[in-house]
Amino acid sequence: MKPKVQIYAGPGTLSLAAARLVARCAATAVRDRGRFVWMISGGATPLAMFDRLASPSAPDVPWRQTEIYWADERAVPADDVLSNFNSAHAHLLSKVPVAPTSVHRIKAEQGAAAASEDYRRELVTLAQAQGRGQSQPPVFDLILLGVGRDGHTASLFPSAAALDEDDWVLSVKAPAGVVPQQRVSIGLSVLNNARCVAFLVAGADKHAVVRSIVLDPVQSAQNLPAARAHGGEKTIWLIDRASGGAATGSSFGCCR
Ligand code: 6PG
Repeated sequence: MKPKVQIYAGPGTLSLAAARLVARCAATAVRDRGRFVWMISGGATPLAMFDRLASPSAPDVPWRQTEIYWADERAVPADDVLSNFNSAHAHLLSKVPVAPTSVHRIKAEQGAAAASEDYRRELVTLAQAQGRGQSQPPVFDLILLGVGRDGHTASLFPSAAALDEDDWVLSVKAPAGVVPQQRVSIGLSVLNNARCVAFLVAGADKHAVVRSIVLDPVQSAQNLPAARAHGGEKTIWLIDRASGGAATGSSFGCCR
């Protein structure tokens, strides 16, 4: 399935578009199933979108019917500045009425292996609540992902064994130089079971990887993990001009 690409002039319009996508997905999910089951990523790109969603002018999101999960987490305490939970809590979760029991953080301070098993049990509980069969992964309404310059997404890095495993949750050691190295990541079997996968990408440093993935997803899937993640109903790339407009604007969408 060809990804849909939407190109935005800059960080402001990009984060607004992403916030509106979350609101639309949430409204549809609550209308159809009574809950919005959302998985978010770490990194810096989503923070402007979180701020938008927490602002007084935010699009309506049914926070009291929202369940929040993470695509990955670093093996650090929850209050560590490197924690993906800490970032989302500071920019969004501390400002909107999501029930504490609906915030399913990866307890990576336990160490990656123990945290992976603990989180896998959370996903089994979710799958059971959704009436899924024993080995069927849970279905997320929206999984929001970023992409690294090397094509990683969540904490699935190129040429990692994790890419070919069916495990729902993986204990991962990131490549040398990536700090922190010990992480917990969702696996492709869960990512690709989502209704919608949305990539949020900004910055000229992502231009090369976005161009590769969007213009040649099949070839890119050989070695770029982000090219292997796609939603069951749709896959959307929300990018800014710096990260891909010139390369993909003529082929997809238009600049908003
Ligand atoms: C993480 C993220 C990771 C992130 C990309 C992009 O824990 O680091 O889940 O996959 O989405 O590295 O990060 P930026 O948005 O900071 O460029």
